[in-house]
Amino acid sequence: MHVSRSLTAWLERRHAISGRSIGFVPTMGALHRGHASLVERCRRESDVVVVSIYVNPSQFNDPKDLERYPRTLDNDLALLESLGTDEVFVPGAWELYPHGYRFRVEEEGVTNVMEGVRRPGFLEGVMTIVLKLLNVVRPQRAYFGEKDYQQLKIITEMVADLFIPAEIVLCPTVREESGLAESSRNALLSAAARQQAACIFRALSTAADSSEAKAIIESEGLVVEYVEDHWGRRFAAVFLEGVRLIDNVPLIMNHPAI
Ligand code: PAJ
Repeated sequence: MHVSRSLTAWLERRHAISGRSIGFVPTMGALHRGHASLVERCRRESDVVVVSIYVNPSQFNDPKDLERYPRTLDNDLALLESLGTDEVFVPGAWELYPHGYRFRVEEEGVTNVMEGVRRPGFLEGVMTIVLKLLNVVRPQRAYFGEKDYQQLKIITEMVADLFIPAEIVLCPTVREESGLAESSRNALLSAAARQQAACIFRALSTAADSSEAKAIIESEGLVVEYVEDHWGRRFAAVFLEGVRLIDNVPLIMNHPAI
């Protein structure tokens, strides 16, 4: 496994692997089973598996959130090696913004709801960094999780609209046994809160409508930012011990008879 710690080092590796089919998994590190499932799928479908680890500053609207985001590089590299990763790209802090954050991708539509409204600048930061990463990695396929469905949707549509020659592959949400979606932020929760957080998935998948789901989550003592239905799915953003968790399920889950 090669680890490139600068853009220059990565571009040399990119030259070395050209001509083979490249699969790409962009991440912000603090890797868990959810990320591993993307890498495993990528491993099955590509000659060369490339993973990036980059806590992208432009997608954090709160500097405290950026500062406290978990960073576990040594563990991440060991996990990636065990999964058969070929190339890891770990750019320096602002290295992918050579002119600062002057150029950015904007969108009207998907950004008008949920994360787009609640975390101003977040989806623009995500679109911008994913565009930059796709340009420097130039993969045939890039893998994203349904856990962050709004992100996945906006990236799929951006790639189509800007004619970026990469296929976006969507991967199902990996959950703990309790139903809680795996997330790097779960590491910031106490053991008790982690159990409590299981009510988010339970509420999303059993309630008759979004207001009932909100009431179930609140009755467990969590603070609900939103529960909303869009694109045939039900979404929630919830605070627990000051940590913000998001999740979503397809609405068909609530109607198993259909
Ligand atoms: P990060 O939160 O590290 O997630 C990297 C990828 O792993 C995303 O595609 C995300 O949807 C997926 N993922 C996270 N938890 C998952 C789970 N429980 N099951 C399945 N997939 C899961 O999302 C980002 O980083 C960043 O916004 C990024 C796209 C890298 C741009 O900076």
